[in-house]
Amino acid sequence: TAAKSELDTRIRRAKETLGADVVVLGHFYQRDEVVQYADFVGDSYQLANAAKTRPDARAIVFCGVHFMAETADILARPEQAVILPNLAAGCSMADMADIDSVEEAWAELTELYGTEPDADGRVPIIPVTYMNSAADLKGFCGRNGGIVCTSSNAATVLEWAFERGQRVLFFPDQHLGRNTAKAMGVPVERMPIWNPRKPLGGQSEDSLVEAQVILWNGFCSVHKRFTVAQIDRARASHPGVRVIVHPECPMPVVDAADGAGSTDYIVKAIAAAPAGSTFAIGTEINLVQRLANEYPQHTIFCLDDVICPCSTMYRIHPGYLAWVLESLVDGVVLNQISVPAAVAEPARVALERMLAAKP
Ligand code: 13P
Ligand code: SF4
Repeated sequence: TAAKSELDTRIRRAKETLGADVVVLGHFYQRDEVVQYADFVGDSYQLANAAKTRPDARAIVFCGVHFMAETADILARPEQAVILPNLAAGCSMADMADIDSVEEAWAELTELYGTEPDADGRVPIIPVTYMNSAADLKGFCGRNGGIVCTSSNAATVLEWAFERGQRVLFFPDQHLGRNTAKAMGVPVERMPIWNPRKPLGGQSEDSLVEAQVILWNGFCSVHKRFTVAQIDRARASHPGVRVIVHPECPMPVVDAADGAGSTDYIVKAIAAAPAGSTFAIGTEINLVQRLANEYPQHTIFCLDDVICPCSTMYRIHPGYLAWVLESLVDGVVLNQISVPAAVAEPARVALERMLAAKP
């Protein structure tokens, strides 16, 4: 349409004028109308790295959600401005853990466990936050011997944590925590769920003493929709189908799938498959549809037939992208995400631990 092509001209013109002064990053869940303008598209981990690899850019325009832009700001040089085209692009899962509730949980747990290391020098508990969390929670981890993980390195990070601690407090996503720890051999009975509205998280002292991973009760409303019944139906209708899901899906779904991994894992699994493969994918619809379009030689469909995008990722409309880019051309920085130093410094410690914790 005319409006679409006008926006397209405006975005391209602004990007051309800005040149190397600006880098546009896009998460895999962004809509195609936005992804086409991204200089780099990736999963959360890759985007955190990408923010660091363009130190020459004056501005980083982050087409993703708020916690990702915060992370980019923490890792970028202080002179660089990180811009979130729509400030209302949050993440409902990240909002499920707030600093006050985590501090309260930590106070209760450290009172229960004490602070003495065991014979191997491991402290009683280590906090691990999923990348999908506010910057102050990453700061909390930095201040308390903890670390950040993404869905692509959760097992490596949990190993890092178990080398240093007897237990882990994992927030906000219970599913990523449970799926990852279970695959590492941690029994599900030793992963109680912490309910922040109840004393001792609603758990008995015994279960917390026995615990190896204490899971926050957060979840992603997009990935919670996937079910084992959908997988059964996909297998019945498409014999030979490979079912791949994101580890934010509930445990029975991950167990019933053929593979689970980050958005980049899903992209790579499809890219590596022989022509004529069939995939049923359990993740956000914009990514699944893009893959289906990019690989017409395969049959690719979403496990859930009710179209369910991540509504906050979708809030990055190309109109906002045009607006922030044209403002940059005029020398005006709009929608800047700026994490205060008191939070950014400890958060950077936790993020750098993650970036260093290679498998
Ligand atoms: P990835 O780290 O796999 O990109 O996931 C981010 C996310 O928000 C998934 O819902
Ligand atoms: Fe957050 Fe879920 Fe959207 Fe990912 S898909 S950004 S976890 S709400």
